Amino acid sequence: MTRRGCFITLEGLDGAGKSTHLDWMAGWLRRAGLDLLCTREPGGTPLGESLRELVLHQSMDLRTETLLMFAARNEHWRTVIRPALDQGRWVLCDRYTDASFAYQGGGRELGPEPIRILEDWVQQGQGPDCTFLFDVPLAVARQRLQQGRESADRFEREGAAFFERTRQAYHARVAADPARFHVIDAQRGIADIRATLEEALQALLRAHHDRTPATRTGPTA
Ligand code: TYD
Repeated sequence: MTRRGCFITLEGLDGAGKSTHLDWMAGWLRRAGLDLLCTREPGGTPLGESLRELVLHQSMDLRTETLLMFAARNEHWRTVIRPALDQGRWVLCDRYTDASFAYQGGGRELGPEPIRILEDWVQQGQGPDCTFLFDVPLAVARQRLQQGRESADRFEREGAAFFERTRQAYHARVAADPARFHVIDAQRGIADIRATLEEALQALLRAHHDRTPATRTGPTA
């Protein structure tokens, strides 16, 4: 019998500074003694990384883009994330299904329904235990993006209206499930943000030890 691990995701607009905090969070969790898997979407498997290349750089229909995100996600969830959680490992993932709601559903204006259907089909009611949304005003994200990037991908090249819709769709996700989200004001200084993250991670660790019932290891149906 092993306790199921905790599934944590990081989200935010391109340029919100999410990547800066991911390594630090991974280090903190490992120092806390956890066996941590650090991964990303789209990607996280050999097939997923190939799909990432396509979806970030090749022009395609919106439905194709959405299906490829979920093809990569299905492979990632079934062959990497779920087995790791079942073995008691913690998983820290750079973006997950909230990004599909935000970017394809919101930014690209597909709406949430098709994403919900694919989410149900692939994840069957299972998903992140906790999500950190790194939130910055659009102007700040765009400024950081311009400073940090040499060659932009298909998403980073989008205009202000796209990112405004994406940000709004993220906020709709938070409103629909506030208990799962920590919204981080990513405009603050790094030390300040780290203090907030540390507090949240400590609470997560305590809650996990107090509440998670032991589950049987092995594949889930
Ligand atoms: P990102 O984490 O920004 O990678 P990097 O920091 O290396 O640029 O992710 C790549 C892009 O993929 C990002 O612009 C958002 C997009 N994306 C979607 O549109 N839908 C999704 O479901 C996922 C997971 C990502």
